[in-house]
Amino acid sequence: MPFDISKNTNYEAHKTAHRTNLCGQMDTSFVGREVSLCGWVNNRRDHGKLIFIDLRDFTGIVQLVFDPALNSEAYRLAKTCRAEYVLKITGTVNKRSPETINQDLKTGQIEVSVEAMQVLNSAKTPPFLLHEREKVEEMTRLRYRYMDLRTDQMQKNLRLRHHVTAQTRNYLNSKGFLEIETPILAKSTPEGARDFLVPSRLNPKKFYALPQSPQLFKQTLMFSGFDRVYQIARCFRDEDLRADRQPEFTQIDMEMTFVNADDIMATIEGLLAAVFKNSIGIDMQTPFEKMTWQQSMETYGTDKPDLRFGLPIQDLSSLFKDTGFKIFQKVLQKNGCIKCLACDSAHQFSRKDLDQLVEMAKSYGAGGLIWGKIDSNRDFQSPVSKFLGKNEIQAMVEQLRLKEGSLVLIVADNFKTTCNALGAIRKQLAQKLNLIREGFKPLWIYDFPLFEWDQKNNCLSPMHHPFTSPSPETISWLQDAPLKVKSQAYDIVLNGEEIGGGSMRIDDIAIQKQIFKLLNFTDPMIEQNFGFFIKSLEYGIPPHGGIALGLDRLVMILGSLTNIRDVIAFPKTQSAVCMLTDSPSGVTQRQLEEIHISLKEEE
Ligand code: AMO
Repeated sequence: MPFDISKNTNYEAHKTAHRTNLCGQMDTSFVGREVSLCGWVNNRRDHGKLIFIDLRDFTGIVQLVFDPALNSEAYRLAKTCRAEYVLKITGTVNKRSPETINQDLKTGQIEVSVEAMQVLNSAKTPPFLLHEREKVEEMTRLRYRYMDLRTDQMQKNLRLRHHVTAQTRNYLNSKGFLEIETPILAKSTPEGARDFLVPSRLNPKKFYALPQSPQLFKQTLMFSGFDRVYQIARCFRDEDLRADRQPEFTQIDMEMTFVNADDIMATIEGLLAAVFKNSIGIDMQTPFEKMTWQQSMETYGTDKPDLRFGLPIQDLSSLFKDTGFKIFQKVLQKNGCIKCLACDSAHQFSRKDLDQLVEMAKSYGAGGLIWGKIDSNRDFQSPVSKFLGKNEIQAMVEQLRLKEGSLVLIVADNFKTTCNALGAIRKQLAQKLNLIREGFKPLWIYDFPLFEWDQKNNCLSPMHHPFTSPSPETISWLQDAPLKVKSQAYDIVLNGEEIGGGSMRIDDIAIQKQIFKLLNFTDPMIEQNFGFFIKSLEYGIPPHGGIALGLDRLVMILGSLTNIRDVIAFPKTQSAVCMLTDSPSGVTQRQLEEIHISLKEEE
């Protein structure tokens, strides 16, 4: 059920010196009453004897009728009105004659006969027609964001967003959380992205970092005995942007003491159930499904699987363990794996489609993608059929339960590359074959590895952040086989988007220091970056943990949208530019001198 503005508007509260009511509020219960309304001209239709204006405010549109016999001055003014003029009118609500009823409009049963009108402001011809928003280039909409925000869609999106934050506050307040703000001029915390740095005028050559998250501050509040805190927190990360990433975004960020991971997950489930119910009327089943990271990677090739469709990845490694096919042999010798996806409707895939899937697999680092179709003779038609033994093909047909018209897509590579490639192809297949069901499928992923190997820098890197607690069952591997250590981290995934992540935290100073060391932090680096934090661990730290939900992503999904820019009032473009204000922009020499910065000449 989409978010409904009218159901979430307190009409009475909007009564002001200018107006008695809102446009979208008008219905047959107002017939015969005099009302004052304000809004923008959505459009005007001049029928000679009568003029009709659709007046718009955030609640909807109402039809105004101007009859010279009723007020010739209002009629004369109405003639001059164009789209986006701002009007204030007083008039009487009348029932429309049956042939003029507009069933598509909420207010379509009535119209307002205008007795007095004031043009509060005129407007230039708008850069685009609001009802044609979908056809307008996004860059134009972002440049004229004040116009874009007037559209129904954007009004709805931002009101939904407000509703979600309001519900969140209600829910968390009721569960004993305090809302405590933490600094924006902060110190770098390693969340995996680059920092945005802010030079300090009063401290030459020193910089604040805008927070990538309030991680260390919220943990510190736990050390100070606040028990549970939250924040609707602005976070800043200088990373490459995508449809679900902005350089500044908002987290519903929380931390709790004397809890375990289950307590935190249950809190989030309660919160999301309340938000879904109260914003779009959806009942979420709790507890949510849970899956280990390993199982998720094996089955869906990703740690954020979309469970609205099936298409599991299947493993063929043992089936081909004695194969003569060189490509498979080499991969298995190097401890790699052979995995595949199988679906129906092979006929829907042209050679070009298959070539595109091959390219897609390659873009994820795979050497290639092997495809094959089962034809009407139940033969496996594939460019590699001749390299595979009859028995192997037969075993594959049985294991995958292939039938006429089945398509098989195989990747053989190391575990990570194979999963990444097939995970991406799985999503592509679901879209092409229209397999994605409506609805919301939340899922917890847990039991993540504590570290992953950073190929580029040839070192360990935290899968979440360095304050994540190792799981007690695997902590003994920390020194000798750190890649085998699992963490007490959990991500919440909704419809294939990671909408949140959190963990139980390290509360033991020795382990925290050991983790920093494993991440190649030297003692001076630890002191410089986290000195205050390490010191605080010496003063009696309770067990604690927390999580942060990506508010923008959550609202995007609640609104059935595909881009977080549509739920942010003033977002940045893919190249991190604000089209409205034209930032980032140059500054004066004087400003630079004040902050002790000199710019290098462009090379
Ligand atoms: P994490 O880095 O997983 O965890 O972030 C939490 C959630 O924030 C959202 N998110 C983003 N949304 C929009 N644009 C971005 N650039 C962006 N980056 C992240 C995602 C993500 O799941 N301090 C930890 C939380 C904790 O451990 O408590 C943290 O920030 O939905």
